[in-house]
Amino acid sequence: SEYTFRYADLTTKLCDPTQLRSKPDVSELKFGQIFTDHMLKVFYHKQLRGWQKPNIIPFENISLHPAAKALHYSIELFEGMKAYRGVDGRIRLFRPDLNMQRMNVSSMSVGLPTFDTHELTKCIRRLIQIDQEWVPHSESSSLYIRPCIIGIDGTLGVVQSDSALLYTILCPVGGYFSNSSSSNEGVSLLADPAYIRAWPGGLGDRKTGSNYGPTIRVQKTALMKGLHQVLWLYGPDNQITEMGTMNCFVFYVEDNGQKVLVTPPLNGLILPGVTRQSVIQLCEEWNEFRVDQRTITMDEVIKLSRNGRLLEMFGSGTAASISPVSLIDFVGQTIRIPTVEHSQPLYKRIRDRLAAIQYGHVEHPWAVPI
Ligand code: COI
Repeated sequence: SEYTFRYADLTTKLCDPTQLRSKPDVSELKFGQIFTDHMLKVFYHKQLRGWQKPNIIPFENISLHPAAKALHYSIELFEGMKAYRGVDGRIRLFRPDLNMQRMNVSSMSVGLPTFDTHELTKCIRRLIQIDQEWVPHSESSSLYIRPCIIGIDGTLGVVQSDSALLYTILCPVGGYFSNSSSSNEGVSLLADPAYIRAWPGGLGDRKTGSNYGPTIRVQKTALMKGLHQVLWLYGPDNQITEMGTMNCFVFYVEDNGQKVLVTPPLNGLILPGVTRQSVIQLCEEWNEFRVDQRTITMDEVIKLSRNGRLLEMFGSGTAASISPVSLIDFVGQTIRIPTVEHSQPLYKRIRDRLAAIQYGHVEHPWAVPI
């Protein structure tokens, strides 16, 4: 009850053996198509002292009032994190505290309740332990964890939802992109200032469904033009903000010969990605080149490209890890980026280092055994 639910109150109802589903072959795994046997559910009812006791139950459909606010006004938020089966057989979460904290921030921004992040982490760890055989035995796969909170009041007023449902579902996943060549050949991006993902004072820096629904049509436009993803621009100076559902990095050489990695700052337009933060921290630790969090515009990218000083561009995210970019289509102008053409590209070094941490090749505080 009150301000949080508690792991100590968790009840568990397991599937009976006949309900257990067969696990997919790792070679067939896509993204978010197959779900595990169990789920976590926690109700919140303001009138009943807030949070109720958490339950782990067999995976099932949820039943909602047709006026549920999540369905009408997108009063909902989600998270995405992963569990990895390490070389030693142990299962690790990657920096779960960051996802849990961000989840509370998102929840507040749509008027939904917050909770003690450690209590949810413990409940999710238990859920993963129960479904542990669903964590793929493969280093190209992982278990994607999707916690969310939805407003379930069955009333049509555009006001706070006094009741909510927090739940968590799990999927064994392979690569995020259906086109697996993207991760090695680089993705192509449609950059068109006509499309705007986020704006000052909005919720662009929160993981709310309202940020993702409006991108579907634009993403389809990119595909119809033969491009993989959208590069989201902002403002009259065409600031680069994000690519697809990922944060964005540019690696270049300055006039003085110094290499610099730059990513847009957390100015309200940028989702504070866990992978983004990890890339910044890794590169700062390496201390081989400068890492800047600052605005970068299309003009600057074009100029760097013309001068042969644009080395790499890549996206970072939980679902696809690090994705190299090979081309930007900027309203008809093609900018080629040699990201995947270097013999020892930065993007690959970062991707490999993250994987080494996630799959337990090295001990690291970011990888938390369940
Ligand atoms: C990411 O991990 O990059 C995402 O944003 C995932 C997505 C399915 C929303």
